[in-house]
Order: sequence, then C-alpha cells, then structure tokens
Amino acid sequence: MSEPDTGSGHSNLRGRVTIVTGAATGIGRSIARLAGAEGARLVLADVNTGEGEGTARDVIARGGEALFVPCDVSDPEQVRHLMDEAVRHFGRLDVLVNNAGIAGSAVPAHDLDVEDWDRVIAVNLRGPFLCAKYALPHLLANGAGVIVNVASTYGLIGAPLAPAYCASKGGVVNLTRQLAVDYGGRGVRVNAVCPGYVDTDMGGRRASLPPAQREAAQARREANAALQPLGRQAHADEIARAVLFLASDASSFMTGSIVTVDGGCTATFNHGAG
Ligand code: NAI
Repeated sequence: MSEPDTGSGHSNLRGRVTIVTGAATGIGRSIARLAGAEGARLVLADVNTGEGEGTARDVIARGGEALFVPCDVSDPEQVRHLMDEAVRHFGRLDVLVNNAGIAGSAVPAHDLDVEDWDRVIAVNLRGPFLCAKYALPHLLANGAGVIVNVASTYGLIGAPLAPAYCASKGGVVNLTRQLAVDYGGRGVRVNAVCPGYVDTDMGGRRASLPPAQREAAQARREANAALQPLGRQAHADEIARAVLFLASDASSFMTGSIVTVDGGCTATFNHGAG
C-alpha cells in the first residue's frame, strides 16, 4: 500500500502564493503581516485601496513579498480579475484566505432594511463563494491547495441585533464543510476559524460612530469579553496565527474543520471564569 501524501509538515507558508481578502485592516492585515514574515508570496485584496496598499507596503518593508489588488469580493468580475492577477504575477495560486467581512446594522430583523440584509449576505457569504469558485480551478490545476474561511462565533450561535451577520456566518460555516466534501479527494483542504470578540474596527463601524458612542460600544464589547473564560478580547494576531496554521501543512489532516478561537466564549454560558 502506498504511503498517503501528508504534505511537508511545515508550519510556515514559505513560497506559497496566498490571497488574503479584507487585508487593509484588522485581522486581514495581521494575517498579511505574519504570512509575509513567513515568506508567503501575498496577493492582498480589499475595497479600501489606501489602507490595502499600506498593508502591502508594510509587508514589503519587513522583507516580504506582496501585491495589492483592489477588489469587492461580492462582484464576480472583480473576483475573477483578482485570481487572474495573482496567477499572472506569481504564476500559480496555493492558498485563499476569505477574510473580508462587514457587520451590518445593529438592529433586530423587523427593523433591518432589506438592502442592508442583501449587502451583508453579498459580502460575507456570496464573497467567499465567489472567491472559492474562481480560485478553485487554479488550486485543482496544482492538485493541491488550501482555503481558510474567517467565519465567526456568531455563525455558531444566535447573538443579539445581528440577523444578517449571524445568517451569513452560519452560511460560511456550512459552505466550509460542503467544499471540504467536494474537493478533499482532489487535494484541496477547506477549513474555517470562528473568532470571538477581536479588538478591531470591524467594518469601520466604530470609526464612523461619534466619539461618545464609540467609547460606549468599545466598553460594551470589553464588558462582554470580560464575562468569558479568558476574560478579554483577542488581539488580531491571535486569530491570524490560527489562520496560518490551517493554511500550512501543519494541519495536513484537517479539512471541514470549524475551529473556534474565541477565548472560550462558546464553551460556556456568559458566566466567566470560576
Ligand atoms: P475590519 O473591518 O478591520 O476588516 C474587514 C476588512 O474587509 C476591511 O479592510 C474592509 O475594507 C474589507 N471589506 C469590507 N467589505 C469588502 C468587500 N466587499 N470586498 C473586499 N473587502 C471588503 O474587521 P475585522 O474584525 O478585521 O474582520 C475580519 C473578518 O473577521 C470579518 O470576516 C469579520 O466578520 C470576522 N470576525 C471579526 C470579529 C471581531 O470581533 N472583530 C469576530 C468574528 C469574526
């Protein structure tokens, strides 16, 4: 019997052509910085061109390789262009990280505008589908590849005032499993991370609030995080490190896995530590 291909076992992405969507800020920027430091060849995508180019400059300044491509992940033509640019520039594609996401309005379902619902689903669910759809032919051509989806604990449980966001992330969780089923036999692994509270500007919502409301929103997040076992919000790097593990050969026997990186919040009720 022939030995199974268990990959190199390497826990880094050296030389791997890696697309990161939503790379301008927050978790995406952390993924780019850490992957760039490991030697990944990065293609960074975002609707925020100013900050996205800043992330690419940052990676290059630290000795890494990065190309920024403006892209709205909800638009099929822009996503197809993103994949074409990656392959034109680096000659191949190895890893796709679907990280771009938006929060939508903090209202219950009966107050949510239909347009707001559609936009959240378009970015958070249609986006990962489109990126997978147009990346997969390139991964299949190599006979190997990895997709990592950034979902959310809000895709595993119901959370207040986030109907579209919870539905979109729940969709990403099961899209992850579905893609794992169809492509595992063809060398492509698909996994997801579900972050809990992470200290980022999530969708620019905090930045767009007046200062007093911004401070109140931040205080609410910190109070919620304090009730959970690790008692704090995550730093974006703590999510990025889990993404890099799933993207690397260190996770060679993982596919269809939904990995919580949430300070223990989904392990318990909101009772906090002992
Ligand atoms: P962020 O707002 O800092 O980053 C999101 C990035 O996605 C931004 O750079 C934004 O410009 C980009 N983006 C938005 N719409 C886009 C589109 N249509 N096409 C391309 N790029 C687009 O927020 P953060 O926290 O870094 O979020 C990253 C991912 O992590 C998201 O998928 C979010 O849902 C998820 N997440 C965040 C949590 C948190 O507490 N911050 C918790 C759980 C999941």
